Amino acid sequence: MLAETDALELLGRGRIDIEGRLVDASNTTLRAEITLDGVTRRCVYKPVRGERPLWDFPDGTLAGREVSAYLVSRAIGWGLVPPTILRDGPLGPGALQLWIDEPAEVGSLIGFVPAFDVPEGWFAVASARDDDGDAYALAHADDPRLARLAVFDAVINNADRKGGHVLYPASGDVHGVDHGVSFHVENKLRTVLWGWTGKPLPAEATDVLARLGEQLDGPLGEALDEHLTITEVRQVGRRVKRLMRACRFPEPPQEWPAIPWPPI
Ligand SMILES: Nc1ncnc2c1ncn2[C@@H]1O[C@H](COP(=O)(O)OP(=O)(O)OP(=O)(O)O)[C@@H](O)[C@H]1O
Ligand SMILES: [Mg+2]
Repeated sequence: MLAETDALELLGRGRIDIEGRLVDASNTTLRAEITLDGVTRRCVYKPVRGERPLWDFPDGTLAGREVSAYLVSRAIGWGLVPPTILRDGPLGPGALQLWIDEPAEVGSLIGFVPAFDVPEGWFAVASARDDDGDAYALAHADDPRLARLAVFDAVINNADRKGGHVLYPASGDVHGVDHGVSFHVENKLRTVLWGWTGKPLPAEATDVLARLGEQLDGPLGEALDEHLTITEVRQVGRRVKRLMRACRFPEPPQEWPAIPWPPI
């Protein structure tokens, strides 16, 4: 395991050797090796010029949103987002994120399960049918690590928390990736983690959100200003305050499909 500061140093100054493209990704998302002083790790490189235009997010801003998500994650201190920076690379400026290795047999905490067989301790969040008409539930575990991710997503207004954007390294940590469509000023929370809707936030969130609010008024806010608009940064603070006031997980919005497609 690389310490966070070492990882940032490696990402910031290392030599990038592109390995290949992640084929199921909709943007130009590349896996690369990064090497500095004899240390080599894998990373994900998302060049700005490979970003697919979206109707609801301004062009060329996704990489900055990825970095912003990391900055907020680091300020929260739950280690949810792998170290992510913005830097120049072989295909121009882009987001560079440390690759998280998962064991071959990774047990996901999110998935489709037979509707009559939702595992104990899991929440069913949506219903589905397969081609034969059999009923399934989209479900996720009532796991405190996922609950942290759900709090984080509410803060960054994540519009794309699908199952595949949650990683499970052998360490037992849970990481979130792909935060390019976050921080919109309108409520766009789209996630599979609706299991706690309306329930009280975890007790640990109270202090964390209070500290986050303070940091947004200081260096964190300044760092986010480099990647987001002033209004977007202000909205982060508003969402933090709203969460602290409500002390509950948010409800799905009415005007927006609340579950990303595909969900996994
Ligand atoms: N840091 C990482 N460590 C390990 N795997 C990763 C990391 N980042 C992304 N991946 C894997 O690569 C896949 C594609 O990456 P990502 O979702 O970020 O790309 P994308 O271009 O935004 O794709 P899409 O728009 O299709 O969701 C992820 O679903 C995940 O499986
Ligand atoms: Mg993705």
